Amino acid sequence: MSVRVVCPGSFDPITMGHLDIIERAAERFDEVVVAVVDNPNKRGLFTIEERLALIEAETDHLANVRADHFRGLLVDFCHTNDIQLICKGLRAVSDFEYELQMAQMNRRIGGVETIFMSTSPEHSYLSSSLVKEVARLGGSVDGTIPVRVATALQAKLGTPADEG
Ligand code: PNS
Repeated sequence: MSVRVVCPGSFDPITMGHLDIIERAAERFDEVVVAVVDNPNKRGLFTIEERLALIEAETDHLANVRADHFRGLLVDFCHTNDIQLICKGLRAVSDFEYELQMAQMNRRIGGVETIFMSTSPEHSYLSSSLVKEVARLGGSVDGTIPVRVATALQAKLGTPADEG
């Protein structure tokens, strides 16, 4: 049986940590859908279209990966797209509690199982929020996000002096 999994998230923007999980999922499953949540109550730095374009560019080398977006419940997206598994990265114990709650809820409301992959240690401290904060304050984000994403982030933020 062919297994299609979803890697869901905000991806605002995609980091090396996300890519690590997506690439490893792509090696192990037949198809990977990277799904950007479109939450009308939470405006990100990047638009949904910009996030999708960056994901598509960074996963272009992976033939079995595609990017999509969704509103509403993740389990509904899974059902609509014939997705059998939710695949998430676990960075640290601090992620575990909330991720476990979501996994149990998704199983209860939609019968969809979640599998966790341990984030590679070199990425375990990474989050999009932290990368954005460091970039905003003029710190180096080298190696935490792909070069193309860093360029897009810099263009969004302008130079620190521009922010006033
Ligand atoms: O990258 P994030 O922000 O940690 O991703 C969180 C995400 C998108 C996976 C989670 O918020 C989600 O699944 N949202 C969709 C709405 C939903 O299904 N909520 C119930 C979860 S049990």
